[in-house]
Amino acid sequence: MVELDPVRLPRHVAVIMDGNGRWAQQRGLPRLHGHRIGKDSVRAVVETSRKLGIRYLSLYAFSTENWNRPPREVDGLMGLLRRYLATELGKMMKHQIRLLAVGSLRRLPPAVREALRATIEATRGNSGMTVILAVSYGGREEIARAARAIARRVQRGELDPERITAGTFAKHLGTRDIPDPDLLIRTSGEMRLSNFFLWQLAYTEMYVTETLWPDFRERDFLQALTFFQQRQRRFGLTPEQLEREKLPA
Ligand code: FPP
Repeated sequence: MVELDPVRLPRHVAVIMDGNGRWAQQRGLPRLHGHRIGKDSVRAVVETSRKLGIRYLSLYAFSTENWNRPPREVDGLMGLLRRYLATELGKMMKHQIRLLAVGSLRRLPPAVREALRATIEATRGNSGMTVILAVSYGGREEIARAARAIARRVQRGELDPERITAGTFAKHLGTRDIPDPDLLIRTSGEMRLSNFFLWQLAYTEMYVTETLWPDFRERDFLQALTFFQQRQRRFGLTPEQLEREKLPA
């Protein structure tokens, strides 16, 4: 494998963790078992990111559409999330990991909401890396929420509609103050965004692997990072312009 260049690592990696159900079904196991093993992949990717010095890691843990899954699976996922937060807190403190969450958190069961709130609060001063959990998250809903907040500011006379820019919008999203992802990883081979970070992924490099999420570990993650380092990011410019302007690779 090609050596990773430590100065050209993505600042922000976002992950659509897909394929837990199929992983379990292939083995004749209940779907929840796939999610349980998927939790170990979460741990592996968080640890590797921290070790390499990646500043932001976003994980799509539960979408607004996932609420329509069978109640047993939804309850199981919520339980997994709550227990994960409890068991990982010590490690997050030790490794200086700050946790943030984006999504319609009000829809979460109170125990999960409380566990998230407590973990976010406990880790807010940590400066080693930021993990952003997208839970009960939908990109369109997030954009609609931002539009409502902006409209309220216009209504109060605080904001001139003519002055609304892409930057204004970005400041009203759940990811305000977080740089857009440089790399998106999607496991299990699907070529879709599935309502994830619709605004934030405008210029993100995409890496799709056939590997199912429960099998995705450090080696696969390093492969995705190697792919990223082989891309030339042009942000809509020509290669010659890029060379002149020396934009970040
Ligand atoms: C998609 O696989 C995965 C999810 C809906 C949930 C992701 C959750 C975890 C990895 C475990 C816990 C998370 C944390 C942050 C501790 P799928 O069920 O849609 O798979 P399929 O497409 O094969 O059915």
